[in-house]
Amino acid sequence: MFDLPVLNAPAQEASLYAPSDVATQDQAARKLYVETYGCHMNASDSEIVKGVMHSNGYAMTDKPDDADVILLNTCAIRDNAEKKIHERLKHLKFYKRRRQDLIIGVLGCMAERMREELVVQKNIVDLVIGPDEYRALPALVEKAFQGEKGIAVKLSRVETYDDIEPLRTEGISAWISIMRGCDKFCTFCVVPFTRGRERSRAAHLIVDETKRLWDAGFREVSLLGQNVNSYHDETAGTDFADLLRATARAVPEMRIRYTTSHPYDMSDKLIETMAEFENICKYVHLPVQSGSDRVLQAMNRDYTVEHYKERLRKIKEFMPDCALTTDIIVGFPTETEEEHVMTLELMREIRYDGAFMFKYSPRELTKAWKMTDDVAEEVKMRRLNEIIEQQQRIATEINQALVGTIEKVLVEGEGRRDASKWKGRTDTNKFVMFPHLTDEASGKTAGYVVGDIVNVRITKATSMTLVGEVVG
Ligand code: SAH
Ligand code: SF4
Ligand code: F3S
Repeated sequence: MFDLPVLNAPAQEASLYAPSDVATQDQAARKLYVETYGCHMNASDSEIVKGVMHSNGYAMTDKPDDADVILLNTCAIRDNAEKKIHERLKHLKFYKRRRQDLIIGVLGCMAERMREELVVQKNIVDLVIGPDEYRALPALVEKAFQGEKGIAVKLSRVETYDDIEPLRTEGISAWISIMRGCDKFCTFCVVPFTRGRERSRAAHLIVDETKRLWDAGFREVSLLGQNVNSYHDETAGTDFADLLRATARAVPEMRIRYTTSHPYDMSDKLIETMAEFENICKYVHLPVQSGSDRVLQAMNRDYTVEHYKERLRKIKEFMPDCALTTDIIVGFPTETEEEHVMTLELMREIRYDGAFMFKYSPRELTKAWKMTDDVAEEVKMRRLNEIIEQQQRIATEINQALVGTIEKVLVEGEGRRDASKWKGRTDTNKFVMFPHLTDEASGKTAGYVVGDIVNVRITKATSMTLVGEVVG
């Protein structure tokens, strides 16, 4: 679902965040490998986990073969997300056979759902630890080394890991979790059960963290929450728009993004604040889920299609160039062909820059779990293919209209597949590839470095990627 940016923090600051010096303090330092699945919240949690373990003397490795402890930070959002983890665990069995003292732990949203099953039935798992119990990790890992299996899956009403410095070793772009949990209880969604009640971090700590990140060389932050619109710092009386404003003011050159918004409480104040600050990216991810009011109601989404469209009108009124993406579910129980066509029509009318599109997957504990999953698999598949095809066409058209324009691109690093190209992102979150400009005399990259914002003239475009060349 997400694309982890490539490691490239400015060298002089690396020691602040990188774990490499720990092993030298203790040659025998145990090595930790963390593999992350699911959403940005999980990616951000993995950095918290690494922060906790790092301050307990662990060194990090990006090779499971080198690790003394392997942790999988899992996702339970759809059945196929869980299947992936079961497959991975089967594979990790071989590692365990090779090394009896290897510790394998399951963290995150699946931990919350699977609990005993993972430890008892899958004898390769030593630890199962839910998203609110990461402080207990070092002690539980220690016990595991002594042969004791551990489960810690209690959800908390207060845990926000406020005092833990996440270990960020990647990129110039940082995630900051500003809240945890979700109280929305959309009828299809397992998140309120895997992550518990909604709670927000103190605003001043988020602003301070952003300042520290700027000083450490980061050039973009994404403020994260399942529903950032209901962020609320009770002590300070700060809502999400206030937080965004305070962050944008405190670090005026930092690019600031956020995700995810819920259409029900996407306020005028938030839209106006986004428009007011140049460093708040003009990009909104606003999941609509369906184009039918009846389905939206059955999903407990709390808004109508008309309300949603009215929010978009407001966004476009204040930020005409704002990019827009969404999430869609096809085949929710009882969804008719007519209702599916309404989703297709809505997507044509709105013309999203991008969309994450899913087949409905029943999740235990949710309200929809009790409904019959009555849309046949082949119908779901066909509906999914229809929206994907249409969306790709629309995104290609939108991106091709950018050919010839000059976009401001934050340079993120070398392309993963093609190191002769740089990759970066526009303010509107579009991925851009462009060739290195090298200075003939020195052979070095001319003019700009990772973390700079450069002008790129777009020369080619597909539904997902822009290609261009640096100008000026
Ligand atoms: N908090 C975010 C989304 C979290 S999950 C929000 O409310 O927008 C990301 C997306 O996964 C959801 O928007 C939804 O489209 C999809 N999703 C969640 N549960 C699902 C399920 N049971 N089956 C299929 N898709 C699901
Ligand atoms: Fe799930 Fe709805 Fe909460 Fe998003 S807002 S995490 S879809 S319950
Ligand atoms: Fe998955 Fe949990 Fe995120 S279920 S989508 S990792 S909140």
